[in-house]
Amino acid sequence: MAARTILVTGGAGYIGAVMCEALREHGMQAVVLDNLSHGYRDAVPPGAVFVGGDVGDAAVVRELFARHAIDAVIHMAAYIEVGESMLAPRKYFDNNFARPLVLLEAMEGAGVRKFVLSSTAAVYGAPERVPIPEDAALRPLNPYGWSKLMLEQALAWHAAARGWRYAALRYFNAAGATERCGERHQPETHLIPLVLEAAAGEREAIAIFGSDYDTADGTCIRDYIHVRDLAEAHIVALRQLDEPASATADLAAHAWNIGNGQGFSVREVIAAAEKVCGRKIPTQLHPRRPGDPPALVASAAKLQAAGWRPRHTNLEEIIASAWHWKLRQPQGLAAGKPGSGKALSSPGA
Ligand SMILES: NC(=O)c1ccc[n+]([C@@H]2O[C@H](COP(=O)([O-])OP(=O)(O)OC[C@H]3O[C@@H](n4cnc5c(N)ncnc54)[C@H](O)[C@@H]3O)[C@@H](O)[C@H]2O)c1
Repeated sequence: MAARTILVTGGAGYIGAVMCEALREHGMQAVVLDNLSHGYRDAVPPGAVFVGGDVGDAAVVRELFARHAIDAVIHMAAYIEVGESMLAPRKYFDNNFARPLVLLEAMEGAGVRKFVLSSTAAVYGAPERVPIPEDAALRPLNPYGWSKLMLEQALAWHAAARGWRYAALRYFNAAGATERCGERHQPETHLIPLVLEAAAGEREAIAIFGSDYDTADGTCIRDYIHVRDLAEAHIVALRQLDEPASATADLAAHAWNIGNGQGFSVREVIAAAEKVCGRKIPTQLHPRRPGDPPALVASAAKLQAAGWRPRHTNLEEIIASAWHWKLRQPQGLAAGKPGSGKALSSPGA
């Protein structure tokens, strides 16, 4: 029997590349569609088919579906910087909401009816309680979160109207690395890679935004999920989409949180990184950032009931995988920029 073929949009990005590795290990073929705006051609694992192009380019996506017998789509392509979305909302609604509608139309034309969306904990805004269940109130605090929630909503109505199956996977903080693939966002805004840049001497210090929150050590608490565990959750979601289900436009019915279910504070992350790297990491205290909720921790009970278990729940282990990946990156290629296939630069240097 031919291997199932899955389209991974954004497959040259951090999580997408790990997704392709996981699909291959599960005996599936990945076809990547990525415009390399923030991805790296060399991140796409050998064996995956690479198509350079934009999710919103109707001719490219139609041609892709005509060439490849796609069984389901994992849609990861998006812009991901919350701060930038506050300054350039249209850019985010265009890329994260409007362009994927072109992809949906091409899927419709090709008879592909299964869709997995990379959504985000940002759809919850500042939650009333943690751990956060999927049916918590949806009140994004920024255009990034809204662009994802709007796509969830469009998918829900689309699925109900057309009998599609979809899952909106609401990721908490993806972290860590596999042997081959690690985080090299530009600019980097995520805590663990920034802490590791400070550990490597590539940035002077790590900024702590707010030390007066109502948490044990006064710093914000977040849920860090190893990127490989995150990819495995998509395999579980794909299996769920093979099962028959009643069509509903209820967002919570289609949503799955992906997190460890454990929160770690900013100071705990720094302390764990100091242990892993065996060196002191300089910090700088800053005031709170507007819109940063004190704690964001997932209830992943729904996904666990479907058979998913995170394997890398230890914070030091997650950080160590990222650190060892970083140490393996070739030095001297620091001028690499997305699309070039070169290595990580050090924006904070
Ligand atoms: N990293 C996290 O912690 C996190 C948390 C929550 C949700 N997510 C979601 O997971 C997904 C992947 O995140 P990531 O960290 O791997 O980001 P990333 O920037 O590394 O990867 C995104 C990829 O999408 C590509 N892309 C962007 N717009 C495109 C378009 N219009 N057409 C084709 N390709 C396009 C980029 O070139 C890049 O390779 C995103 O949808 C993001 O919103 C990530």
